[in-house]
Amino acid sequence: MKNIYLLGSLNIDLTIRAPYMPESGETLKGSDFMMTAGGKGANQAYAAAALGGNVKMAGCVGKDAFGDLLINSLRRVDTSYVRRTDALTGAALITVIDGDNRILLHEGANSETGVLDAENLLSHAAADDIFMTQCETPIDGVIKALKLAKSRGLFTMFNPAPARSEARGAVMYADLITPNRKELKLLSGKDDLEEGIVELLRLGAGAVLVTLGEKGSLYVSARERIEVPCCNMGAVVDTTGAGDTYCGALAAELARGVKIADAMSFASRAAGITVTRRGAMVSIPTREEVL
Ligand code: RIB
Repeated sequence: MKNIYLLGSLNIDLTIRAPYMPESGETLKGSDFMMTAGGKGANQAYAAAALGGNVKMAGCVGKDAFGDLLINSLRRVDTSYVRRTDALTGAALITVIDGDNRILLHEGANSETGVLDAENLLSHAAADDIFMTQCETPIDGVIKALKLAKSRGLFTMFNPAPARSEARGAVMYADLITPNRKELKLLSGKDDLEEGIVELLRLGAGAVLVTLGEKGSLYVSARERIEVPCCNMGAVVDTTGAGDTYCGALAAELARGVKIADAMSFASRAAGITVTRRGAMVSIPTREEVL
């Protein structure tokens, strides 16, 4: 089995369910407050490990209680490359309305994550191992890290979330890029799904896998086109972390040598379970549950 190396963010998630988004000056009573481990990087690392992968993660947290909570939550992940810095741990204020989330981020220690972290992380990686990263740490480091991993022969997976146009410079170093619809539009500059995919392939991505929510997911490379339906596992309670679950599950399956179409079905089932539960990392299923 291949190892999975992940560079990414770690956040404390402060989540409240609300009936609607409060207006300026309004104080609104919410419910179901949760304080849980999150961050796109940490969620994907947790998912890949919970679903059977050998995962090593690099990133930064503060020397505060939230940093402790994050490292303790990632117990199946090798966090020896996660640095403790003098900045506060990154934080995400999440409002959940009718199952959908709105997230306000404070990047905190995540702002110190860079290419040196990737160099340390990859010092013992083998060609053919998997490298994955996202856009929640400084983009310059993300681009350099992808370039480094690709030059060493690793299979590079890039989840361009949250959406930011500067991530365009990273596309050429991605063997597999996994945008959602909004991220695809922003990165490609195209409104049309098919044109957006063609544009990312033209920019140099090895393959494009678009996650389409309830419409499933679509993979396109020079040789293959695969469509996988969404997997409805019950009522949608909270979509936070669904994309992260999908990416982590996909990496775990690819690390086992599973073919892309089967890896997509597995990832779709895993994400289908995540949305039936509240929270991000705490809602990610185990391999047994998905099977
Ligand atoms: O993708 C979900 C994640 O986005 C949350 O855990 C939050 O920390 C934000 O980074």
